[in-house]
Amino acid sequence: MCGIVGYIGKQKASAIILEGLKRLEYRGYDSAGIAIQKNGRFEVAKKAGRVEGLIKSTPALKISGTSGIGHTRWATHGGVTDANAHTHLSSDGKFALIHNGIIENYAGIKKFLLTKGYTFQSETDTEVLCNLIAYHYQKEPATTEGSRFLECVRKTLRHIEGAYGIAVMCSDCPAEIVSARKGSPLILGVGDNEYMLASDVAAIISRTQNVVYLKDGEILHLTARDFSISTLEAEDVSPVIDRVTWSIEDTDLNGSAHFMEKEIFEQPAALENTMRGRFAEDGSTANFGGLNISPVDFRQIDRFHFLACGSAWHACLVAEHLIERFARVPVEVDYSSEFRYRNTPLGKNALFFVVSQSGETIDTLAAMREAKRKGYMVLAVNNVVGSTIARESAGGIYQHVGPEIGVASTKAFTSQLLVGAMLALYIGRMRDMSFSDGVEYVNALKGVPDIVRRTLEQAPHIREIAKRYAHYHDFLFLGRLSLFPVALEGALKLKEVSYIHAEGYPAAEMKHGPIALISENCPSVFLVPSGEMFTKVVSSMQEIKARKGRIIAIATEGCELPEGVADEVISIPACHEAVLPIVATIPMQLLSYYIAVELKRDVDKPRNLAKSVTVE
Ligand code: AGP
Ligand code: GLU
Repeated sequence: MCGIVGYIGKQKASAIILEGLKRLEYRGYDSAGIAIQKNGRFEVAKKAGRVEGLIKSTPALKISGTSGIGHTRWATHGGVTDANAHTHLSSDGKFALIHNGIIENYAGIKKFLLTKGYTFQSETDTEVLCNLIAYHYQKEPATTEGSRFLECVRKTLRHIEGAYGIAVMCSDCPAEIVSARKGSPLILGVGDNEYMLASDVAAIISRTQNVVYLKDGEILHLTARDFSISTLEAEDVSPVIDRVTWSIEDTDLNGSAHFMEKEIFEQPAALENTMRGRFAEDGSTANFGGLNISPVDFRQIDRFHFLACGSAWHACLVAEHLIERFARVPVEVDYSSEFRYRNTPLGKNALFFVVSQSGETIDTLAAMREAKRKGYMVLAVNNVVGSTIARESAGGIYQHVGPEIGVASTKAFTSQLLVGAMLALYIGRMRDMSFSDGVEYVNALKGVPDIVRRTLEQAPHIREIAKRYAHYHDFLFLGRLSLFPVALEGALKLKEVSYIHAEGYPAAEMKHGPIALISENCPSVFLVPSGEMFTKVVSSMQEIKARKGRIIAIATEGCELPEGVADEVISIPACHEAVLPIVATIPMQLLSYYIAVELKRDVDKPRNLAKSVTVE
């Protein structure tokens, strides 16, 4: 939620910050703003809407200052207006501030500041923080040792409840930025005679791959010459400089119309990367380098708990099915946001997995902390190296699919499905799965990139179907067993990018209520596997046909569908049970994508959404 960029160096800050904001726009795109420091003054430009709009409408951005901050907003407090866009200035004009997160005690502080004569131009919680810094600064004697600016920010943050990633400039301190985080991500880029600050590496990697990941409770003090990190308690921190492996090309469209399209078609390579080096030499099981738990201890686990949000939660439901089916160990799956407050009874030998593409989703982070507080080991399945969730977990599995920029998750989701399938194999082989079943399973997983490639060849056919179905206002997505969560994901994808109402159900549940929706105006997308569920699923299709519902069937090759039961058929290759959810996902991604394109939606930045949700 929200993108933060800061720059101090020798170059023109505005151009670098705006470029960074464009690359971070997927994190929030309600408004954009920038403040450049020049001769003890701030040049501020901000505007509701996209970064591009800000660039077009603001000649002030041509200013030549070499330090500044910028922000793309995902509104929490106050509407989407120019006034509420960040950067905010304190009412005495001394401070400029950008903020990611929510200041929970802003109302009380605002009341207090109003009595002290501070004024407010916006409805945001952020402006309150900015004025509180100004208040402390004005009270602080000018002789304070060290940086008065830094100390005032530190003091202010001790009064703040909620989550924040902030960057602040002070007009008395040219070429200095103070930045701090609690709950929202912040990364320092260490370049050649320059520093950058950002919410994630996408904004930084065009200038440097050397980064410092800030931890919660840390404050960064940046000058044109150096930087230092300390804690809220004023203890010095020795920074660790890491090297980012992603490159700038990974964050470019490279000829695709949208990131969603690019990321859908990247899946064969992405899934190959998720698997690379993760099969045992004997070819019968999976291997994970970073679990940080011995096989002996892992063998003692008698219940797995998975926590996640959104698409990642759907991936967990598939993992539940596969682990219970192939390893016969019970699995619980919770929404992160519910788990934290549910106080559910937990077993003695339980192990937690949190699943998060970004590794920054605050609900999942909070749920993870709750599980740790209760004394459980928590492992993470995560795509972004160095993310907060990765760093706070005891170990885990990186997805290695490269940056996912499209707000609707595609390659990260299928890679989470793959990790789940590999975990089921790993746990299964520790228990009753035979060597030969393990070898068959491994061979099936190794074939995933190819089978996904073949499924993607259906794209032109699916595009034609999308054109015929884009005008409907309601859809049902139906599947059974491991394909039920895939149906949920199909419905979510369609909702997210096309704004069409869609619901996912277990196919047989449809007759217990949702069937009331069926008419010629509400098509159903059925996931039709061969095997024992085939006839049952076909019966559900017949029930819909009897009520004049249109049907798009995503069916395994070789399924003999009765004449007239489906209006459209999309064939997917026959495959191993553990691979089926991945393969069945692909046509639904394409269908949603092409429908959204047909409706001229903003595919990569759907309304009201943001890529990583760092507020509760
Ligand atoms: C997916 O298309 C969504 N935009 C969303 O549901 C997402 O999966 C969810 O917010 C979780 O994100 P995470 O994996 O980064 O934690
Ligand atoms: N709470 C702040 C606002 O609504 C910051 C939101 C964000 O993280 O973008 O402006």
